[in-house]
Amino acid sequence: MCGIVGYVGYREATDLLLEGLFRLEYRGYDSAGVAVLNGGEISVRKKAGRVHELAKLVDANPVHGCLGIGHTRWATHGETTDINSHPHVGGNGEVVLVHNGVIENYTSLRTFLQEHGFVFRTATDSEVIAHLISYHFTEQTEQGGDPKNSATAIKAVEATLKRLKGTYGLGIIFQEFPKMLIGARAGSPLVVGIGQGEYFLASDASPLVGYTEEVVYLSDHEMAILSPDSFELLHRDSGALSPSIQTIDQVAADVDLGDFEHYMLKEIFEQPQTIENAMRGRFDEDEATAKFGGLNLDPQQLRRIDRVVLTACGTSWHAGLVGEYLLEEFARIPTEVEYASELRYRNPPLTDNTMVFAITQSGETADTLAAMRECKRKGHPTLAICNVVGSTIAREADGGIYLHAGPEIGVASTKAFTSQVTVLTLLALYLGRMRHLSYPAGQRLIHQLKSMPEIIRKSLDCFETVKNVAQKYSEFSNFLYLGRLHNFPVALEGALKLKEISYIHAEGYPAAEMKHGPIALVDEVTPSVFVIPRGGIHPKVISNMEEVKARRGPVIAIACEGDTKVDNLADDIIRVPDVEEYLQPLVTAIPLQLLAYQIAVVRGCNVDRPRNLAKSVTVE
Ligand code: F6R
Repeated sequence: MCGIVGYVGYREATDLLLEGLFRLEYRGYDSAGVAVLNGGEISVRKKAGRVHELAKLVDANPVHGCLGIGHTRWATHGETTDINSHPHVGGNGEVVLVHNGVIENYTSLRTFLQEHGFVFRTATDSEVIAHLISYHFTEQTEQGGDPKNSATAIKAVEATLKRLKGTYGLGIIFQEFPKMLIGARAGSPLVVGIGQGEYFLASDASPLVGYTEEVVYLSDHEMAILSPDSFELLHRDSGALSPSIQTIDQVAADVDLGDFEHYMLKEIFEQPQTIENAMRGRFDEDEATAKFGGLNLDPQQLRRIDRVVLTACGTSWHAGLVGEYLLEEFARIPTEVEYASELRYRNPPLTDNTMVFAITQSGETADTLAAMRECKRKGHPTLAICNVVGSTIAREADGGIYLHAGPEIGVASTKAFTSQVTVLTLLALYLGRMRHLSYPAGQRLIHQLKSMPEIIRKSLDCFETVKNVAQKYSEFSNFLYLGRLHNFPVALEGALKLKEISYIHAEGYPAAEMKHGPIALVDEVTPSVFVIPRGGIHPKVISNMEEVKARRGPVIAIACEGDTKVDNLADDIIRVPDVEEYLQPLVTAIPLQLLAYQIAVVRGCNVDRPRNLAKSVTVE
């Protein structure tokens, strides 16, 4: 949700800012802009549309200087126009900033500032911050502060931050101070990159890769004062802090598209490898169990767990649903899956021995973070299943498990889902072996898991079949996705993928639930995608399929190789390898990801940057 980048040092800031914005574009792509201190004046270039539009604008009208900030926007307040794009100018141009987050009290602040003569040019909440800094800068000088001293500007920023309600990641520059870049964080991520004679600021580490390996992740209510040769870290309440320097996760560098047409396709095809990465070093074959380095709970604590709550949003929530089935099946621990956006404001009774897992690809989702903090506040061990190393959720959790899936750039999540399911399977094995799961059962599961990367590779062979199916159905406006047991969450996920990137209405349901309502939707132009691999429930799903056929609904079946029972019922069949029921989500998710992808391509949609979405949802 909005990407921020900033630079102070000796290089041309504009080049760095644009490169950083291209890398951050997955966070929002409604508009983009830069501001650079250019010979004593701050020059702003901003434009609605993608970063390459901004690059064209800057090419035609360059700005030179070694201090600057940039922004790529996911609109919250105000339409996606040139004027509403960031950076925003405060007062008469003495301060300019970029903002990621939402200022909840912006209406009252705006009224206050208008009463004090400030003129608003945009419909954004962010502009109030720029004007408020300007207001407090004047106030500081009236109280004797030296307008030529950067300490006065810092005090003005501090006074402003105290008045803001909501979330922010900010990059701020002042016309008067050509060597000072300020970053501030509350709720929206911000990382400082440490160079030689230069500093960087960004929403995540991706713009820093190749420039520095040393970073400092800011925590809430921290402010970084950066100049080419100094870095001061201040906390709102405790004052000056010494920064904790970490090494950047170089895997974040892998953002090359290679021979693929889209990141989403590249990431779908990476899954044999990412699933393997999620398992690497996590088997204890002697004990027929899994092992994790970072749970930070001793075996006694883990044995006492009598309930698990998995909390997440979107695709990660679907992975959580698969996790519920697995944890209850293998570990016999009652498990609930909660939408983080609901859990954060609910007050469900949680037992003393409830373990909470936040599941998140980005580690920055605002709702998931808030739900995790709420559970932590009540004293529960809160752990994270997370992909992005160093993200806020990863840092704030008491412990957790990384996915090691590498950067997921396509806005629609694919490889993160299968990695999350893999990690949840390992977790079920681990907790299961502490309880009821026998040694041979543990060994069998390990054996099956080890074969999954190869099986996923085979599942990808359906690519050409899916292409033909996509051609046939791309003009339909409504789809049903139906599956049972472990494949019910997969049906939800398949429907979500189609909605997100093709803008086609799709509903996921447990196949048997269809007769309680959704069957009314079935007609000749509403295809039903049945996820129907082999298993105990297979005949029941066949009956559900019959019900759809009886109403002349087109049927697409995701079925196992050699399953002839679907032959006479399904209009189109996409074959997947046969695996145990509890591993089926890993396999059946693949054709559904490909189907959504291919339909979106046929419809000419922007696969990697679907409208209205952003990769990392850091607002409520
Ligand atoms: C769907 C998708 C979203 C995310 C959701 C949670 O393709 O990407 O639904 O799954 O916004 O994001 P994370 O996992 O980063 O917390």
